[in-house]
Amino acid sequence: MPPSANRPRVLVTRAIPDVGIDLLRDAADVEVWPETLAPSRAELLRLVRGRDGLLVLPSERIDEELIEAAGPTLRAVSSFSVGFEHFDVAACVRYGIACGHTPGVLTETTADTTFALLMAAARRISEAERYVRADRWSGGGIDDLIGVDIHGATLGIIGLGRIGQAVARRAAGFGMDVLYHSPRRVPEDLEVELRARWVSLHDLLAGSDFVSLHAPHNDATHHLIDEAALKLMKPTAILVNTARGSLVESTALLEALRQGTIRAAALDVTDPEPMPPEHPLAQRNDCLVVPHIGSATVRTRERIAVMAAQNLLAGLGGEPLPHAVPGTT
Ligand code: DGY
Repeated sequence: MPPSANRPRVLVTRAIPDVGIDLLRDAADVEVWPETLAPSRAELLRLVRGRDGLLVLPSERIDEELIEAAGPTLRAVSSFSVGFEHFDVAACVRYGIACGHTPGVLTETTADTTFALLMAAARRISEAERYVRADRWSGGGIDDLIGVDIHGATLGIIGLGRIGQAVARRAAGFGMDVLYHSPRRVPEDLEVELRARWVSLHDLLAGSDFVSLHAPHNDATHHLIDEAALKLMKPTAILVNTARGSLVESTALLEALRQGTIRAAALDVTDPEPMPPEHPLAQRNDCLVVPHIGSATVRTRERIAVMAAQNLLAGLGGEPLPHAVPGTT
């Protein structure tokens, strides 16, 4: 459809699945940032000028500077993510910007990714694949690529929200003992159903064979896993992070791996993100790094795209968003 003066002008900051773009194009003039990497901040500030709505990723910070750069037309911003820490909620409320995110839709897929990473790190799958490719199989020793058991091990879950719960359900199938820590205990019947026991953070770190992070990033969780936390963990323990990179202090993790304070780590999210290949963590065999693929399945990404588009269209139409960012309504 040709651009029209009456249709809202929308910027989408990455090529999300067509099903979302098509929904937007039915009602708006849509420009999609064509690159794989996010636009630079300067580019973004230029691109948002005169837009009515934005569909963004967590790499785009939505704050006063950006809202001012967009100008008075901007009335809705929808994120292609459940995480919403990139919204300056106070600024959005002040300017009356409707803000959306996509809760729930990626829970099971992210829990699958968590388990894939946990198992890959425990059984050194990535290293084993490189071993075959490097033609080391024929000359290999019996102790090469020895891993640790998953069944019967203790899994410590930090943050028992939707994704943490879905991870606990998977752990039950592997006969794991589940500990959890979160600021508030979940209801007792849920603890019973998940066979998960609340413990202090100290006891979780000290008692777990696997520690998996499922907390949001905020002031209280920034660098939650620092040198002191890593020192509490077992030397045989494996850290898994599919939450946010900044929950883990990367320099402390690197040192812990170097010193053998913990056995290994598996990271879907990193600090910095993207993590360059020459980063010392990305170079280590005992640190499995994948590029934030927690929700990366065809079906889930399509569902996120639809949900994000529906949020944006509601905001542009002055209607309540199906999934508004908490604190913005
Ligand atoms: C989310 O939805 O928050 C995922 O981490 C992707 O950013």
